Amino acid sequence: MNYLIGIDVGTSATKTVLFDEAGNVIASASLAYPLYQPQNGWAEQRPEDWRDAVFAAIKEVVERFDGALEDIKGIGISGQMHGLVMLDEKGEVIRPSIIWCDQRTGAEVEDMLKRMPREKWIEITANPPLTGWTAAKILWVKKNEPENYRRCHHILLPKDYIRYTLTGAFATEVSDASGMQLLDVPARDWSDEVLKVLDIDRSLLGDVYESCQVTGRLTREAAERTGLTTETRVVGGAGDNAAAAVGTGVVRDGRAFTTIGTSGVVFAHSNKVAIDPKGRVHTCCCAVPGAWHVMGVTQGAGLSLKWFKDQFCQDYSARAEAEGRDVYDRINEEVATVPAGSDRLLYLPYLMGERTPHLDADCRGVFFGLSAIHQKKHLLRAVMEGVAYSLCDCNEILQEMGIEVDKMMACGGGGKSPVWRQMLADLYRCPVKTVCQEEGPALGAAILAGVGCGIYPDVETACDQLIEEKSSTGPKKEQAQVYEKYHQLYQSLKENFKELAKM
Ligand code: XUL
Repeated sequence: MNYLIGIDVGTSATKTVLFDEAGNVIASASLAYPLYQPQNGWAEQRPEDWRDAVFAAIKEVVERFDGALEDIKGIGISGQMHGLVMLDEKGEVIRPSIIWCDQRTGAEVEDMLKRMPREKWIEITANPPLTGWTAAKILWVKKNEPENYRRCHHILLPKDYIRYTLTGAFATEVSDASGMQLLDVPARDWSDEVLKVLDIDRSLLGDVYESCQVTGRLTREAAERTGLTTETRVVGGAGDNAAAAVGTGVVRDGRAFTTIGTSGVVFAHSNKVAIDPKGRVHTCCCAVPGAWHVMGVTQGAGLSLKWFKDQFCQDYSARAEAEGRDVYDRINEEVATVPAGSDRLLYLPYLMGERTPHLDADCRGVFFGLSAIHQKKHLLRAVMEGVAYSLCDCNEILQEMGIEVDKMMACGGGGKSPVWRQMLADLYRCPVKTVCQEEGPALGAAILAGVGCGIYPDVETACDQLIEEKSSTGPKKEQAQVYEKYHQLYQSLKENFKELAKM
């Protein structure tokens, strides 16, 4: 039997899973790390924290494996997209990574639009300049920390920094590289034109692979630290959303998924480069060679619920712990007792600004309509509803673009919640399904490793063999009536958000 490791470098934690080639979980380890917010709208993490967590997690799963080490054939890495990791000549981290939800780069996006027209950006990179994406972050460091930029020899994405620590290779792959805004997305390679316009030296960037190509083998040091052998191959892997697509079987036209992790994403596979001319959803290469995907992104999805839980639900957490239960199960139970619409309470989930559909770095979270009738559980329901409305915005844009979806899956931590799935089914007006395999990006990354190591013939066949549908939640139309009000609220507050940002 062959075995494969899938790694997901998430925002709240890394998850590393050892699978057998039939897709069964043999061992799994998860380790959390902090998120730093030095200013309102800024978000950073330490690449060294990701590295230490990943090495410790691999070691843990390898120690729990009682088979032959040489049967662990390959590793696939997935991770949060868009983060900027800068390394010096010796491969040391220069500064903390500015991550995907950071919103400091409004001025750099304007600068990018002055250097090249919006239409041209869309033609080459398939997307307009975006505050959360890597190119704008590189310009920010160049302008604000010239000494750090001068020392920079390598620019990597979060999961590609992990690849470097495992294999010594400076490399990336097409799905994650699409989110840097430096890639010619139709051609699946760096764009010399964009690099010239931004004055970024191509030698700073790694080689670009397809997601299932082998990018290297473990170095002796990495093998010693993890307990694996230097024969273990590491494939390209994928950005977390492209990897989640593989892990939920979203690898053909007509397939889509909604994930609720720290961010929320509605993702649809596409065999052609489909672009929203308004730039409200992203178009990227997907992990299936020769295919792309379109995705809308809610910045503060699971983040909103986690933020509310951490700040205001210590009582829920204490009781859940005493009962030996997950606090989110308890939250779900409470929320299910509140009627749809939360007794006229609305929440806008813009804690870190919003991408789809507003592309607005200045907007922030709002509770609207608070009354003395409301209890904590109403606020919790409103938070979950606000996230669902924002995801519905993403789904509506995909529909507007003519992307046909005949199967919508749900995944991520929030996808496990029956209450959240019901809200999505009501708003999308279609069934929302789950799969038995709950590892999402980690499974997707392991499948990509299996294809790269010759264990599976291709990504689609592997998904057909390994992934099985579990449940289906049908629409009940409870949620739809409040959705309109949610939209009006953002429009009414748009200018106020801009004023607030200037304070
Ligand atoms: C996608 C995005 C997020 C991150 C975090 O564009 O920014 O989904 O990948 O996981």
